[in-house]
Amino acid sequence: MKWIVGEKNLQQEKIVDFGNKFLVGNGYLGYRGTMEEYGKKEFTACILSGIYDQQGTAWREPINAPNGMYTKLLADGEPYDLLSCDVKDHNQQLDMRFAIHLRESVLSGKNNEVKVKSERFASAADYHLLTMNYSFSFTHSAEVQLITGIDGDVWDINGPHFADYAYHKEGAALAVEVITGELHHHVVTAETAVMNVEGRQEIIEKDKGIFRKISFSAKAGKTYTISKAVVVYTSEDVADPLTLALEESCSAIERGYDTLKKEHEKIWADYWEAADVIIEGDEEAQFALRYSIYQLLSIAPRHTQAASIPARGLSGQTYKGAVFWDTEMFMLPFFLYTDPEVGKNLMNYRIKTLNGARKKAAEYGFRGAFYAWESQENGQDACSDYNVTDVFTNRPMRTYFRDKQVHISADVAYGIWQVYLLTGDRSILLDGGAEVILECARFYCSFSYYKEEKERFELIDVIGPDEYHERVYNNAYTNKMAVYTIKIALETLELLKEEPNFYEALIDKLNYQEDLEGIIRLKRMLYVPEPDRKTGLIEQFDGYFNLEDTTVEEVRSRLINPKEYWGGAYGVASDTQIIKQADVVLLLNLFKEEYSQKDKEANWTYYEPRTEHGSSLSACIYAMQACDIGDPEWAYPYFMKTASVDLTGESKQFAGTIYIGGTHPAANGGAWMTAVLGFGGLKVNEAGIITVDPVLPEKWQKLSFKIFVKGQQYKVEISKQGSEIMKVVKS
Ligand code: BGC
Repeated sequence: MKWIVGEKNLQQEKIVDFGNKFLVGNGYLGYRGTMEEYGKKEFTACILSGIYDQQGTAWREPINAPNGMYTKLLADGEPYDLLSCDVKDHNQQLDMRFAIHLRESVLSGKNNEVKVKSERFASAADYHLLTMNYSFSFTHSAEVQLITGIDGDVWDINGPHFADYAYHKEGAALAVEVITGELHHHVVTAETAVMNVEGRQEIIEKDKGIFRKISFSAKAGKTYTISKAVVVYTSEDVADPLTLALEESCSAIERGYDTLKKEHEKIWADYWEAADVIIEGDEEAQFALRYSIYQLLSIAPRHTQAASIPARGLSGQTYKGAVFWDTEMFMLPFFLYTDPEVGKNLMNYRIKTLNGARKKAAEYGFRGAFYAWESQENGQDACSDYNVTDVFTNRPMRTYFRDKQVHISADVAYGIWQVYLLTGDRSILLDGGAEVILECARFYCSFSYYKEEKERFELIDVIGPDEYHERVYNNAYTNKMAVYTIKIALETLELLKEEPNFYEALIDKLNYQEDLEGIIRLKRMLYVPEPDRKTGLIEQFDGYFNLEDTTVEEVRSRLINPKEYWGGAYGVASDTQIIKQADVVLLLNLFKEEYSQKDKEANWTYYEPRTEHGSSLSACIYAMQACDIGDPEWAYPYFMKTASVDLTGESKQFAGTIYIGGTHPAANGGAWMTAVLGFGGLKVNEAGIITVDPVLPEKWQKLSFKIFVKGQQYKVEISKQGSEIMKVVKS
């Protein structure tokens, strides 16, 4: 079975792409798949989770730490690197099984030729550690200089973020300490290196970095190796990041690369033991799905109890490193089923940021919790009112994602409830989750509008998942999710009554008694668009069916500029029925038990040709819904699209003029969901009863995976002959 992702030759135009594709990470940091000699122009980055900075009035974004892996070779004064040599051979690989990045290059210069081999990983045993083994041999003897150290001149989208640089040398270790401009966080990268040759070592401080220049006479054909231990800490982690980073880089290097690698590999073997999904009969699908799982495992926050995952993972500063609904609706299922602690962690982040959501609700004149559309460390909304730049005028365009995409609060409440249902553990509710759900329900009470003549409540002036249509009334998904939020708020209250002291205290604290009546009324009277009796279609929002009914191709042909934004005030899709991503189809998929097969099929068939899939969140939903309808062959191409998005690099790179490239963890989570919940037809009811109703694609002989439900792990095996669900008993 194939575990290696590989690319041959230097594909200069794909350097940015490969940075995403070959990423290694451990949840605390993500290190892009760039070469050791690369710098900011090649988008080298070591992105840290949950720590941000703002430069002036530019967008706040996560911090890219000084690059401790930087390494460059010179022989007889000539540079030997990918960008300045004749590349005879180049091979970049990622071993997904152990999360190890590999590189082999043969580079030819004027008088010599070098073979470089490197191996690196972001340790799963120590989240602050990145390690590397870098070896090289020249065909001719030469005076070699190896320049290695910490490059602090980093790539930023809205930087620079470091207002102050200090360089340190302590024993064998070097460090760059920087202070961020906005919140004065200290960020330290320390590095220690050992080499199998005694060279002359000089320490150089230049260009925002500190480097060792190791000079020695290299013999023809002899292999020289340097091992590096790079440690990153910030003042958000510990009070004195400098001392710890220096100490840990020294102790890591003393323990030796091989020991560190063994520890790391053992943990990755355990990750795969729980998370792997095996598809027999379809190598291509197996590979793409594994790769999607690899991406999710690499960015799972395990270093703290309350952290989430940004929409572009840890692959860069795109999308401001912000957390979207992507986490709850697209990534959470994977984690909850395969590593429930990580699932809880993701939702603890929402509990931690509840006050940010309260503030946002108050800012717009509402009560309760209105979560950030693009959430940063304290739940503040990084989404701006002008989130897209018009390609024609280069002026910011007024967008309404921040103020109108109110389904976010329901998505968060839904996520918390999923944790409770699937783990069977009330602690998530008692430790803040109940408060989140109640505050989200309160928000919808405050937001809803009573329509006299129809004697019902409505949600007006919103944006649903399909962002191309702004400020619509009664988006079916949003209204349905709001009702669901209210339903689970009431169920939460019932549950909490079993803990009377807690219940009383919470109701008092939130002053909730007075809201109860309103909430019960809203549950009864909030309008949710239903399938039309004749056609079975649910109208995405009021008036959607009156918009121009045309094709995606037609709308695309109206673009004047390929990077033009399709939505907003005068976007090409705005006054048509062409939608950006799954909307009604998502609703049907989430509440599949409540709709007839006929209605589900009617809506899939209607909306599918009208969906542009301008978001990587779309394909997996169409795939899962096709499975639910019983048509795996409709689902299959969508499954492959979602599972291979970061392998092919074929995804939207721009929204207007704004770069939005990077990895796509929501699509990765969607690939897992499609395999397990879609093709596998896995269902777990509220009592924790597990069933499967599989619809395997033609080629798939067998599908097997493991899941946790209410604390017990199960192995599920599905084949054309039948299915088996077995308890996993740990010896
Ligand atoms: C999608 C959103 C998504 C965001 C981040 C946008 O293009 O429309 O639904 O949350 O990207 O992935």
